[in-house]
Amino acid sequence: METSQNIIDLKDVSVSFDGKIALSSLSLLINKGERIALIGPSGAGKSTLLNVLSLSQVSGTGMLIIDGQPPSYYRNRKVRAKKIGVIRQQFDLVNALPVVHNVLAGKLADWSLVKSILSLVIPQEKEMAKKALTRVGLAHKILEQTGSLSGGEQQRVALARLLVQEPEIILADEPVASLDPARAEDVLDILTKLVLEEKQTLIASLHSVDYAKKYFTRVIGLREGALVFDLPVGELTDRHLSELYKLGETME
Ligand SMILES: Nc1ncnc2c1ncn2[C@@H]1O[C@H](COP(=O)(O)OP(=O)(O)OP(=O)(O)O)[C@@H](O)[C@H]1O
Ligand SMILES: [Mg+2]
Repeated sequence: METSQNIIDLKDVSVSFDGKIALSSLSLLINKGERIALIGPSGAGKSTLLNVLSLSQVSGTGMLIIDGQPPSYYRNRKVRAKKIGVIRQQFDLVNALPVVHNVLAGKLADWSLVKSILSLVIPQEKEMAKKALTRVGLAHKILEQTGSLSGGEQQRVALARLLVQEPEIILADEPVASLDPARAEDVLDILTKLVLEEKQTLIASLHSVDYAKKYFTRVIGLREGALVFDLPVGELTDRHLSELYKLGETME
């Protein structure tokens, strides 16, 4: 039989914190190249799900297979970095360093420790950083101190770092939550363009339904750790959304 195209196969995954359920027996199949928006009210389990998929949430039950392999296969940092890249709301950049170092941090898992430490003094593979920064429209900022850039620019630096890392799957937890609408669209434009060009799979949590509709192919609604819907973006209706965000009807 032909092997499956699923890059992520999650089956019956449950996670709880102090007895409170964060994910409730969740199952998902994700194909290569999909762009998935995770939406749902605060506390729905979006970040927990992304942490499970990025292998940073390890307590819990159920099964996870990433590109045909169990989580243990990705214990090696280098192997993991080639498969999974993460982008966060707070960018995770070192503000005191020039942009070039933050971009090249995408390569750290590949480099020897000595080279990694040296790169803090002498930027290694500066050309590679420049190429990535050009693709996000920031080549002219390569030597600027990262902390002096605007939020939108910093998130583009984080995208350039991902370009250098070249993971197959990108997991983004509210990647534009701290940006104004113009900057947010700018970052999502670039992110989705790069994901298409690199044939990557993208899973991002968002609080904006409009962005989910505009930039993603599939939308998953989570509430209280469970799936409310899982649909191609074109099939999402206002009824689905009011079901997802309804207030004050939690069951005990
Ligand atoms: N490290 C933790 N310790 C204790 N409880 C946690 C932890 N992480 C998440 N939770 C709980 O698990 C549930 C799901 O949280 P999660 O952060 O995944 O929600 P979310 O959908 O990302 O919400 P938001 O939209 O506010 O970011 C919540 O009830 C939360 O309080
Ligand atoms: Mg969250």
